[in-house]
Amino acid sequence: MEKEQLNQQQRPLFDALRKHKKLEKHSFHVPGHKNGLNWLDEMSEFKQLLAYDQTEVSGLDYLHEPTGVIEASQTLLSDFYKSKKSYYLVNGSTVGNLAMIMASVKRDDLILMTRDAHQSVIHGVELAGATPLFLGQVSEAEGTIKEGIEPAALKAVFKQYSGIKALVMTYPTYYGEIYPLKELIELAKANNCLVLVDEAHGAHFTLGLPFPVSALELGADAVVHSAHKMLPALTQASYLH
Ligand SMILES: Cc1ncc(COP(=O)(O)O)c(C=O)c1O
Repeated sequence: MEKEQLNQQQRPLFDALRKHKKLEKHSFHVPGHKNGLNWLDEMSEFKQLLAYDQTEVSGLDYLHEPTGVIEASQTLLSDFYKSKKSYYLVNGSTVGNLAMIMASVKRDDLILMTRDAHQSVIHGVELAGATPLFLGQVSEAEGTIKEGIEPAALKAVFKQYSGIKALVMTYPTYYGEIYPLKELIELAKANNCLVLVDEAHGAHFTLGLPFPVSALELGADAVVHSAHKMLPALTQASYLH
């Protein structure tokens, strides 16, 4: 069944914060800045923003089990990226990579990864207790850092090892390069292997041409985006799809 198209001009979370700002005369809860009440007037331009730095009080929902405005906002996010489900992350894409990996592999499972993986990917594999298999990567010229994966190399790995649970890729690479992701995803799926994509630097790919196609559109199982790297978002704002 076709998903209902939502109005992407809505801002449920922002509207709730604005309403809260108008209604709350005094804050008796965290954070300790009390909506800027105890800040000096000479910091006025920053002080104004503090009323929007809120916690899980009535009407503002709860990030870890959203049922109100955060849920409505995440539904819009999912609709925009055409994912099955999308989550807001605090603490950046690092927590997205940790969650994505720990939700996909268990202790001693084999997980394929590339040598340019971000340290959060390596940490995720360590926390899960999975066994990493590092893929050799393409190098364009001697002395450059290797990047990207060749489908033939992936095919060879699946031939050599059975039962690989997941493949994690950095897409685009740290040089902004892309590689044949569609073919790689199809290959992994044909081998019952989950595809996890650290698309931290590709949160804008979903906009279409002239950008490359997003891993989400190509059928990856889980994708992490750094909104704070590529979109006009505050520091550490990220998504897990
Ligand atoms: C490819 C990639 N993945 C993940 C991360 C982690 O991102 P964050 O700083 O949002 O935790 C980075 C950060 O530089 C990155 O470059």
